[in-house]
Amino acid sequence: MPDVNIDMIYNMKHLMTVLVSAAAMLAAVPSFAVSIVPQPVSIKENRSVVQLPQTLTFYGQDKALKSLVDVWGESFAAIASVRTGSEKKADVKLYLDPAMEEEEYTLEVSAGNGAVIKGGSSKGVWWGMQTLAQVLLQTSQGEGKPFMVPGLMIQDKPHFGYRSGMLDCCRHFFTVDEVKKYIDILALHKLNTFHWHLTDDQGWRIEIKKYPLLTEVGSVRKETLVGHLSEKPEKYDGTPYGGYYTQKDIKDIVAYAAARQITIIPEIEMPGHAVAALTAYPWLGCRGEGYEVWTKWGISEDVFCIGRESTFDFLEDVLDEVCDLFPGEYIHIGGDEAPAVRRKDCPDCQARMKAEGIADETRLQGYLLKRIEKYLNDKGRHIIGWDEILDAGVTPTATVMSWRGPEGGIRAAKQGNHVIMSPNTYFYLDYYQTSDPKKNGEPLGIGGYVPLSKCYSFDPYDKLSEDEKQYIKGVQANLWAEYIATFDHVQQMILPRYCALSEVDWSEKKTSLEDFKARVKTVMLPMYDRLGLNYAKYGFDE
Ligand code: ACM
Ligand code: ZN
Repeated sequence: MPDVNIDMIYNMKHLMTVLVSAAAMLAAVPSFAVSIVPQPVSIKENRSVVQLPQTLTFYGQDKALKSLVDVWGESFAAIASVRTGSEKKADVKLYLDPAMEEEEYTLEVSAGNGAVIKGGSSKGVWWGMQTLAQVLLQTSQGEGKPFMVPGLMIQDKPHFGYRSGMLDCCRHFFTVDEVKKYIDILALHKLNTFHWHLTDDQGWRIEIKKYPLLTEVGSVRKETLVGHLSEKPEKYDGTPYGGYYTQKDIKDIVAYAAARQITIIPEIEMPGHAVAALTAYPWLGCRGEGYEVWTKWGISEDVFCIGRESTFDFLEDVLDEVCDLFPGEYIHIGGDEAPAVRRKDCPDCQARMKAEGIADETRLQGYLLKRIEKYLNDKGRHIIGWDEILDAGVTPTATVMSWRGPEGGIRAAKQGNHVIMSPNTYFYLDYYQTSDPKKNGEPLGIGGYVPLSKCYSFDPYDKLSEDEKQYIKGVQANLWAEYIATFDHVQQMILPRYCALSEVDWSEKKTSLEDFKARVKTVMLPMYDRLGLNYAKYGFDE
């Protein structure tokens, strides 16, 4: 038993008094470390407290920055009200700083100057405004009360220039408003690209004026599989299912995305995943007849015929209209899961192979790829294709989207192709989030297991040399929608796993899984609640 004398007890009491009063002082000054997702390059806080009113007056240095204010006000109406005013009176001031990189920003909050966001372009400023929303959410004192923000300086810029989420609108159709909400969610995570999957076996979803049957016929399937594809006997719902985006809808969505600093990459699948198009125009397929928009999931042997010139005329006409609608640099031309079997019995494909000296049916796909790439290059565009294009015969200038794990991406980087990593093993967000989906109440899914921690653990540079790293352009998550019929379900699949995507894409150095999860809990889950977004309530600790 240690000796305890009266002096020690007195000293301890004194120490306690000091600690308690220090804690009381700390509580009176709501200074704390703000949590931001994705983790910024640096955050410095001081012990000052800056009061910002619930209705924030914004000042934008130029017209483009002013227009961000309205968009931000719409996005975060649940956090703050917004009006614009003079530079002198503003609580939040937005400036361009030509010395910064395009997507770089700083956010400084100080007693004398309120919140000041500087960015290398509208993009940088916009990402800074996303960070501001996270700061405000954490310093809110309740409805109608001012924000009590610690004095701070955040410096930040993204690691990757391509940060993306994909949505499959073919297997299930999502409305214009839902697609816009998806774009809002991308912006909230500082993702700058939306990969829009628009054509597939189960539905063609983009209006092409020159070929009206693509949507009149190809956007509708007569019924849809019920339950999992593996369940036998297969069951169908007997209800026609369809939907498509008019060109007017698409222009509206492209403008909506641009206002949120997001570029859209449309995907027009070729030569596979084309049954909806073949149903509309059977002369596009090797067999030339007998097609029906698919009602179940999987891989069809019926693909575009690469032998006939009429297929190229069609694809080029479609791409002309696609390029007119989407101003971005990249067009995704699919290229995945395109069986070569029909080419064996197709005289046109065989004649093409002979004329071009192509030895096997698989590599005939490389011929299509090269021609289409040249066509798009001549229009000033570049192509992206799924990693099967490596086997079909890839050009040095195509960007490879690695989905069958990271291996295709590693192979492509080693041969000098640009790469987007979207490995199913880390970023297929249609996969389950828990190891026991039934027990955890996860809705029926395609399979797989990609919990939040697995997404977070992805290293896009694994197995690459210093020199090869330059070919990795960014990381993307994919949401295939075979088993996802509602937008509520869409949100539950991407949230909160988009937090891990955004951090892998944006933050040069990860902190730790524990720290990441703590920040997600502190700021992102409350943000989803405040904005009325649906997110998964399971899988967080797996
Ligand atoms: C894919 O998942 N078939 C790209
Ligand atoms: Zn053919």
